[in-house]
Amino acid sequence: MKPTIQGVVLAAGKATRFRSHKSKLLEPLCGRPMIGYVTQLLQSCDIPTTYVIGYQAQIVQQTIESSLHHNDTRTAFVLQEEQKGTGHALMVSQPTWTHDHILVMNGDMPLVTQDTVNRLIEKHVASKAAVTFVIAHNADPDQKGYGRVVKDESSIKIVEAKDFSGDIHEHCCINAGIYIFDRRFLETYIRTLTPENAAKELYITDLVHIASNQKLVVETVTTSFDQVRGVNTFKELWTAEQIKRGELISYHMEHGVRFASPHTVHIDIDITIGAGSTIGSGVRIEQGTHIGANCVIEPLVILAHATIEDNCTVYSHSIIRNATIKKNAHIGPFAHIHEGTIIEPGSIIGNFVEIKRSTIGAESKAKHHAYISDTTVGKKVNIGAGTITCNYDGTSKHQTIIEDEAFIGSNNTIIAPITIGKKAYTAGGSVINQNVPDNALAIGRAHQVNKPDYAQRIKEKSHSTKHHLPQDDDQDRDEYSFIGALKDTSHNITDES
Ligand code: UD1
Ligand code: CA
Repeated sequence: MKPTIQGVVLAAGKATRFRSHKSKLLEPLCGRPMIGYVTQLLQSCDIPTTYVIGYQAQIVQQTIESSLHHNDTRTAFVLQEEQKGTGHALMVSQPTWTHDHILVMNGDMPLVTQDTVNRLIEKHVASKAAVTFVIAHNADPDQKGYGRVVKDESSIKIVEAKDFSGDIHEHCCINAGIYIFDRRFLETYIRTLTPENAAKELYITDLVHIASNQKLVVETVTTSFDQVRGVNTFKELWTAEQIKRGELISYHMEHGVRFASPHTVHIDIDITIGAGSTIGSGVRIEQGTHIGANCVIEPLVILAHATIEDNCTVYSHSIIRNATIKKNAHIGPFAHIHEGTIIEPGSIIGNFVEIKRSTIGAESKAKHHAYISDTTVGKKVNIGAGTITCNYDGTSKHQTIIEDEAFIGSNNTIIAPITIGKKAYTAGGSVINQNVPDNALAIGRAHQVNKPDYAQRIKEKSHSTKHHLPQDDDQDRDEYSFIGALKDTSHNITDES
């Protein structure tokens, strides 16, 4: 019968070296919380897993649950109330051990591949070892935080960094932090761990020495150091993220995506980009973003949970967040599209246009300076420069509807709730606060009055009074202010008031 395997992930640690008062396992790496990498790895290997949680247990558990692809009933959580070391963390998971072999992983190793896990399992099962663990080689003195594998003809042990005084160049073999144990071996020997070491903790790594002393089989599997990097500091997080980002960019390049300057791009995991698309320098593509084929994303664009369909151009400095841009649309530069907005095919949204919670129909245009919110815009609508939908009255938000082929003049203030009918026009500079019927022209602005030769007369007056403004004997003064605006005489307001 095929031996059965279950996983235990050690995720209770305090993350002291992060100095951030937050579990490091929650820190995002390419947009996914660090613990999510191990979670998804074990799930894709189809291994039922127990998570040992402790520090910030509740939020760590929630994060693990939400990073599982589907609700996995084979996931269990156990609490390590006090963090007494990795050996102790494994010990508290004992009540959940039911399978033949227990695969243990540190929670802080986001770069491990499925292939390494499979090779570890295969070797362990084939060799009938008590314990098999993953090793890598690194002689860099900066990487002194790892346990060193110390071996001679008859024994093998892992010496923790704090207890190691040898030469790193001589002992460049490091312990990765992934182990598989025969369950019966663990049940017999886990209770023999003691905290006799520099950290006064129970070390999982001592189990290797115990097995070796008992003359049981101990095996190792070698992999690349990059894959098993542990993340204990922000610097190590940054390094791991760069490696991951490099992998992601290479993947997209292999699938037909052109990056103008790959080292300047921020790209998360779990995004898609279609072949033939170009990503400009300094672009930020956050999790949940999908870019279609043959799109151009210009420099310094930010996309977060955005869907951009085929053949779109997003000009530089635009921000698209939680929004969908359908095919053949042009967005930006400096556009801000967010909160569930949908831009239908072939629309053009230009510079300094903000659109939120709205739908813009096919082939419509808002090319310059506009704020469109809570609005449904039909097809082939033209929205003039400077148009504002006034959606908020201080208490509630209201809807604007602009129907197909309507033409909104420049600098309109559209006060919601309101409907502007099909093919209707609104005059430039209008305040539109009543519904506009289909095909109508709405003009909502003050009448202009021209005062002939007014400027000349002002000049003459001011000369004669030596820099004094027109006085009350000026007949126009009753009706017009100095700048020519119509005076509101009903309240008897004077210029001096
Ligand atoms: C550990 C190994 C070291 C190895 C390195 C690889 C031990 C004693 N040392 O060191 O040999 O080279 O990983 O990266 O295991 N944790 C708990 N409860 C605890 C303590 C830790 O759940 O009481 C968890 C942490 O959250 C972390 C994992 O165990 O996910 C490893 O702990 P960490 O402190 O990072 O161990 P290292 O010092 O890196
Ligand atoms: Ca670590």
